[in-house]
Amino acid sequence: MSLSKEIKRRRTFAIISHPDAGKTTLTEKLLLFGGAIQKAGAVKSNKIKKTTASDFMEIEKQRGISVTTSVMSFEYQDIKINLLDTPGHQDFCEDTYRTLTAVDSTIMVIDCVKGVEPQTEKLLEVCRMRKTPVITFFNKLDREGQDAFELLDEVEKKLKIHVCPLTWPIGIGKSFKGVYSIYEKRLVLFKPHGKQNEESTQIKDLNDPNLVKNIGEELSLKLKEDLDMLLGVYPSFQAEDYLGGKVSPVFYGSAINNFGARELLDCFLSIAPRPKSRITNKRKVEPDENKFSGFVFKIHANMDPKHRDRLAFVRICSGLFNRGKKYHHVRLGKEFKFSNPTAFMSQDKEIINEAFPGDIIGLHDTGNFKIGDTLTEGESHQFLGIPSFSPEIFRYLVNTDPLKTKQLNKGTQQLMDEGVAQLFTMESSYRKIIGTVGVLQFDVIKHRLLHEYQASCRFDPMDIYRACWISSENKDKLKEFCREKSRSIAKDKENNLVFLAESRWLLELAQKENPQVQFHFTSEG
Ligand code: G4P
Repeated sequence: MSLSKEIKRRRTFAIISHPDAGKTTLTEKLLLFGGAIQKAGAVKSNKIKKTTASDFMEIEKQRGISVTTSVMSFEYQDIKINLLDTPGHQDFCEDTYRTLTAVDSTIMVIDCVKGVEPQTEKLLEVCRMRKTPVITFFNKLDREGQDAFELLDEVEKKLKIHVCPLTWPIGIGKSFKGVYSIYEKRLVLFKPHGKQNEESTQIKDLNDPNLVKNIGEELSLKLKEDLDMLLGVYPSFQAEDYLGGKVSPVFYGSAINNFGARELLDCFLSIAPRPKSRITNKRKVEPDENKFSGFVFKIHANMDPKHRDRLAFVRICSGLFNRGKKYHHVRLGKEFKFSNPTAFMSQDKEIINEAFPGDIIGLHDTGNFKIGDTLTEGESHQFLGIPSFSPEIFRYLVNTDPLKTKQLNKGTQQLMDEGVAQLFTMESSYRKIIGTVGVLQFDVIKHRLLHEYQASCRFDPMDIYRACWISSENKDKLKEFCREKSRSIAKDKENNLVFLAESRWLLELAQKENPQVQFHFTSEG
């Protein structure tokens, strides 16, 4: 099949949610429709449930599971769907941010009882920043949730994105009868605990007597009123607003009851974007260009401590990828050949001979890749938009076994390449600092350094509010700022200057007093 035909039939996306909203359950239903799995319960949740600080085995086990569910590819109605998994635990949200750089769109699951939760807010911020199209799925309609209008309001206010309902719920909780598909003008009835959980009736006109027959007088009247109100408040669906990340189409359903998921998937397939063009530091790259290019967005390392094996996940951005062909590693300026690239069909890894834009491939790596690395057929551009995010928790890294200094340095560097956390070195004292987005990472790092690199360390507390990358057009001003704040200046692993602010107040003061210095909250500014 030609390159352009293959591109047209690819949809690469991720499901995002606050833990427990129903992401795993919905993923499973989508895989069932696609025939990628045969029975419910086959997708192991990648959640680190109720993890205590010492529960390392659980973390390790989850790392094992997460490699097989990292990418789930399947075919549905002749569309190749690449569904990228995102870690459920909030301490690993930076992994999720990076996964979002490799997708073309997302489905956001919100629990209708709990409404918009903190992690959804953070994740949506990343989608907004990248203008990623988002479809909203309100889940658990079989529970006594919030009013459907209130939920829409909350999404608009908290997530700062416009919404456009494409289905509308009829009743909620015990009285939940189903949804009316505004998009398809169909009534989809809910049958709890039934084998077939939905039944649909075409209702082109709301005065059709079938409406009252199916949901009763009262709910019919309420549905008509609701839809009248919706028409007045929300604009009709415009594909370009969704594709531009301005408006999120909304669906209601109950994943566990397999209700509303098919409407969601069918609509997703008809509106979700195919692989898009991507920006590099030199030019825009179109997916249908003949030459291959892609970037590393995730590295999974040391599943077997006896072999330093790493799997680099590459998102293909343009051209055809061929097994065994030499490709250019832009950062290292070297050519590499990959003889065993893997694809991820449902939950199995298999060696592939070729892959197309939108696909994710796994490349075995002996330590040459870092997150954000670009591969091309010779050009020296780097894909942008794979930033490091400003960490939120900081600790001094202290070597507790001087005889293993080399191992500690190597291990730390490799874990940082994998994106587990970020390493900063103080300019004044050369002390090393690890910055993370969650406390759990410190336990993971300590455990992995010891077990994979035989290095032992301790983390000492330090009071830092935020780390931000600094830059200025005026080099003298930047030097002056670094001199003045020398005790708060560090360098990241790429030698970029970083200001470690001790409090919000000090950060704001520094920003106010130094208008010529720019403070960035991601490494790409
Ligand atoms: P997550 O991946 O977003 O963290 O959520 P997950 O799918 O694991 O779902 C979280 C819990 O919510 C699970 O219950 C799941 O069964 C339940 N759930 C998912 N969809 C629905 C729904 O539509 N309605 C209702 N009522 N519940 C739903 P659990 O008790 O935590 O786990 P389990 O023992 O059922 O596996």
